[in-house]
Amino acid sequence: MNILAIESSCDETSAAVITNGKIRSNVVATQLIHTQYGGVVPELASRAHQQHILPVVANALNDAKVTKKDLDAIAFTKGPGLLGALLVGTSFAKSMALGLNIPLIEINHMQAHVLAHFIEDPKPSFPFLCLTVSGGHTQIVKVTAPLEMEIIGETKDDAVGEAFDKTAKLLDLPYPGGPLIDKYATLGDPEAFPFPLPEMPGLDFSFSGIKTSFMYFLQKQVRQNPDFIAENLNDICASIQFTLVDILLKKLKKASRETGIREIAIAGGVSANSGLRKSLLELGEKLGWKVYIPAFEYCTDNAAMIAMAAHYKFEANDFTDQTASPLARMEF
Ligand code: KG4
Ligand code: ZN
Repeated sequence: MNILAIESSCDETSAAVITNGKIRSNVVATQLIHTQYGGVVPELASRAHQQHILPVVANALNDAKVTKKDLDAIAFTKGPGLLGALLVGTSFAKSMALGLNIPLIEINHMQAHVLAHFIEDPKPSFPFLCLTVSGGHTQIVKVTAPLEMEIIGETKDDAVGEAFDKTAKLLDLPYPGGPLIDKYATLGDPEAFPFPLPEMPGLDFSFSGIKTSFMYFLQKQVRQNPDFIAENLNDICASIQFTLVDILLKKLKKASRETGIREIAIAGGVSANSGLRKSLLELGEKLGWKVYIPAFEYCTDNAAMIAMAAHYKFEANDFTDQTASPLARMEF
C-alpha cells in the first residue's frame, strides 16, 4: 500500500511516500525568499509552492522508487496554515487523485506533528502527552490512540516559535531567528539576565507579555549602552531561551502531574531547540518520564509526518472527496 503525501501549509513544500507504514522518501523544498522580508509573506509562499510542487513530488516518487501507477491514495494537509499555501497542495492532491482515480485523505497539520513520533523507533505508548511547539502553535496534547487526541493546554496569544522569532528580530537576527537564538545561546550564560515568568492559570500559555518585557529590557539597555546587544548577544540569547524553555517545561510538568501520564513527547519546529531538548531530558530523568524527541528532520514541517497520519487514516477507511477544501484554522 503506497500513499503520496503533500505538505504546503506554510513555507515548506514537501512530498513523501509511505509504504505499509514505512517512510520511503521525504523531500522538502524550503522557501528562502522570505528571509529578506523578515517573515513569511503569504502571497510569495503560495507562488513558491506553485513552482516547487511538481519537482518535489517527482523527486519523492523517484526516491521511493514508485511510479504514479503504484499509488493507492493521495494525502494532503487540509489545515491549519496559510490559506493560499494550503490551496496549492490541496488542489494538486485533488487533481492527481482524480486523474489516477484513487482516494484522497485530508490531514490536520498539528495532528501530523504529533504522529511524527511513529515514523521511527522508539515510539511512545498510549496514552502520552505531546508538547507541540511551532511558529504558529503551542499546545499540550493528550494522545490516547493514533487518531484520538485532545488539546489540554494551549497558548492564548503568541506561539513560542513566534516569541523566538520576534525576539530574534529585536536582536537584528535574520528570519527565522529561532535556530540562531539557539546557536548563540549555547555560548552564553542562561542566568545572565533574569526575566519574570507570565502568570497563566491551568495548562494554558501566554507569550505576548514576555515578548514585550524582552523588548523593554533591550530598549532600556541600548539607551544606556548602544553596543549592549553586540557585546552581550550570547548571554541575551541564552537568557531568553532559558526563560521560554522554563515556561514550556513548567506547564508540561503540571500536565503530567494532573493526568498521571509519564510518556512525554515533543513535536514541531521549536522541538529542534537544543536547550529544550537538553532540559526536557534532564527533567524527564528527575521525574521518571520516558521522553520522546523526534529526529530534527521530522520536527520542522515535512510531508513524512503527513504520510504517517495518512497511513492511520487509510487503515481507518477515513477518506475525503473532491469537495474537500483547506481551512486556515482547523480543530482536531
Ligand atoms: O513546525 P515549523 O517548522 O513550522 C510551523 O508549523 O510553524 O516551526 C517553525 C518554527 C519557527 O518559529 C522557528 O524559528 C522555530 O520553529 N525553530 C526553532 C528552532 N528550529 C526551528 N526555534 C528555536 N530553536 C530552534 N533550534
Ligand atoms: Zn508545523
